[in-house]
Amino acid sequence: MKKLLIGNWKMNKNSHDVAEFFKSFNEKYTVKRDAWIAAQAIHFPIVEELKTPSVKAGLQNCSEHIEGAYTGEVSPRSLKDMNGHFVILGHSERRQFFGETSRGLNAKIRTVINEGLVAVYCVGETLSEREAGLTLSLIEDQIHQGLNDQSKANLENLIIAYEPVWAIGTGKTATPDQAQEVHAHIRSILTSKFPAFGGKTRILYGGSVKPDNVEELLAQKDIDGGLVGGASLKAKDFLALCGDK
Ligand code: 13P
Repeated sequence: MKKLLIGNWKMNKNSHDVAEFFKSFNEKYTVKRDAWIAAQAIHFPIVEELKTPSVKAGLQNCSEHIEGAYTGEVSPRSLKDMNGHFVILGHSERRQFFGETSRGLNAKIRTVINEGLVAVYCVGETLSEREAGLTLSLIEDQIHQGLNDQSKANLENLIIAYEPVWAIGTGKTATPDQAQEVHAHIRSILTSKFPAFGGKTRILYGGSVKPDNVEELLAQKDIDGGLVGGASLKAKDFLALCGDK
């Protein structure tokens, strides 16, 4: 399977920036690696309109409900209706600032996948958890809680993103060995929980992925791609991550 790079634009860019990005990106993107963009919900229609068809677009969060009286929420069904492809769920910024928990995310993952979208479920430890030696057990809890009782059919539309919180937006990247250790652990949890799917699930690394460190990260056996913040904002950088220098 091709490596996958997801650009998580977070709450950045205005409509003009979005147009500028695709003007440059579309010209040089060669589909060597898969490229997906997670935009702000309000920009989704222009991303959908301006992107080259081989790029897939999605969101950074959505409601666990399909419709109804949930003021201010974005429905996964509406995203699907607009040709959306995926949703990032449980990003550490949502856990930190909006109180999301792995247990609560279990329902969102189910709804998103049942609506025909791909769920990109994020897990990762803080620096103090790493220093206390808790990384592997914490990741295991996050995976079990998020994926408990998910139907097997759902797993084909699941991606896991390992994002150590201490590496996000800090310029400190996990070393390829540190990342591979956790990815191999995630792979073994998935394989023992879901024998038919664990080996096939894409596991992405996120946390200060840049053009100058992407190749050694992607060369690791269990790293199937990257979830990228800062370096996805400029077309030139994101093209470099996609293998199109
Ligand atoms: P940076 O690539 O800016 O560290 O952000 C990572 C991230 O949070 C992607 O979801």
